[in-house]
Amino acid sequence: MRDVAVIGVGMNKWGELWELSHRDIWTSAALDAIEDAGVDHVDAMYVGCMSGGLFVGQEHLGAMLADQLGMGPIPGTRVESACASGGLALRQAYLAVASGAHDIVLASGVEKMTDVDGAAATYALSTAADQEYECFHGLTFPGLYAMMARAHMERYGTTIEQLAHVASKNHANGAKNPNAQFPMKVTPEQVLASPMVADPLRLLDCSPITDGAAAVVLVPLEMARKLSDGPIVRIAASAHATDTMALADRAEISAIESTARAAEQAYKAAGIGPDDLSFCEVHDCFTIAEVMVIEALGLVEKGQGGQAAASGLTALDGKRPVNPSGGLKSKGHPVGATGIAQVCEVAEQFRGGAGERQLDDPHWALTQNMGGTGASSVIHIFERVGREAGR
Ligand code: COA
Repeated sequence: MRDVAVIGVGMNKWGELWELSHRDIWTSAALDAIEDAGVDHVDAMYVGCMSGGLFVGQEHLGAMLADQLGMGPIPGTRVESACASGGLALRQAYLAVASGAHDIVLASGVEKMTDVDGAAATYALSTAADQEYECFHGLTFPGLYAMMARAHMERYGTTIEQLAHVASKNHANGAKNPNAQFPMKVTPEQVLASPMVADPLRLLDCSPITDGAAAVVLVPLEMARKLSDGPIVRIAASAHATDTMALADRAEISAIESTARAAEQAYKAAGIGPDDLSFCEVHDCFTIAEVMVIEALGLVEKGQGGQAAASGLTALDGKRPVNPSGGLKSKGHPVGATGIAQVCEVAEQFRGGAGERQLDDPHWALTQNMGGTGASSVIHIFERVGREAGR
């Protein structure tokens, strides 16, 4: 297998983008990534999209978007793993370059969620849960994560105040991100006073409904060294694991086992552990998700995730920064694009271009993207390397 690097990234401002179509949003991010990479073509492309059919009535995205890019007849593949579609598209692109099948590959993600009303968006998202055993009985995603939150509170004593600190921390970071959908700062008190969605999760515990896209260009590391004149983003590990769809089939619903399994593979492949990471971008679709994910990644002991944001551990200036981009909570969550946008943040941070949210000299970073309540998890680890071989 060849070493692989990210040499170009593209992402537009996320939000309710009524003036732009699904394909416009994607094309803008894809062209930005290609321009940033300094290449004039790609050999293949992957697009993560959870539900083009239910959100905008458009499927067959691999072919459509390759054509839209003006680069047909390259192979164009649409990848779906619910909210982990972007992360899995990145993994397919990584495997294509690492295996030698292609040299220059675009990994991208897109979702346009606001063209349908709230009920239709909730239904589209619910197709990522178990229809027969969960949704037919009235469960929605906020409802499923509310049950996970209750279980975590019962088992470990996690409090709603601690969850509110997760939202407040991520909005503080998102306030420094010009691409964020909700870049306003919120205090824990404002989170606790926001409308109840699914007890104990309130409006400000939830990621929003978002239109957005993101794209990155991957090449073999040796090619990246010739094309780039700055720090290079090497993909040090790519891992993917699954779990049961229905929460009822899990031994414990206050943990994300697929993330723990993928993390174990990823740390082994990269030859590092959680203590080596400069920062992580994780899937905080609800505040409780960030709590469970940082435990699964080994950033904190099991049961200690609730305290992490409240104590400042995961803040931008904390010992273990989590979601410097603002996360899904503040930056937004156009589901198919989220896993790719996490990589855009890694590249910005490694290149020193993250503006007010820039971390001090980051070297290792991890991205964690998951589908549904964790039935699928995709993890990548990145290393900042120099242009010279031997790093
Ligand atoms: N964070 C901050 N503000 C939010 C927000 C969020 N997540 N969602 C909506 N808002 C704001 C809106 O901008 C609006 O503000 P305004 O009144 O000043 O214009 C207000 O809150 C109400 O917005 P609205 O769109 O009517 O909210 P809603 O009640 O229809 O939807 C949720 C709110 C939380 C139910 C919806 O965002 C949701 O379902 N989120 C979860 C998405 C999800 O499950 N993703 C997959 C995860 S695996």
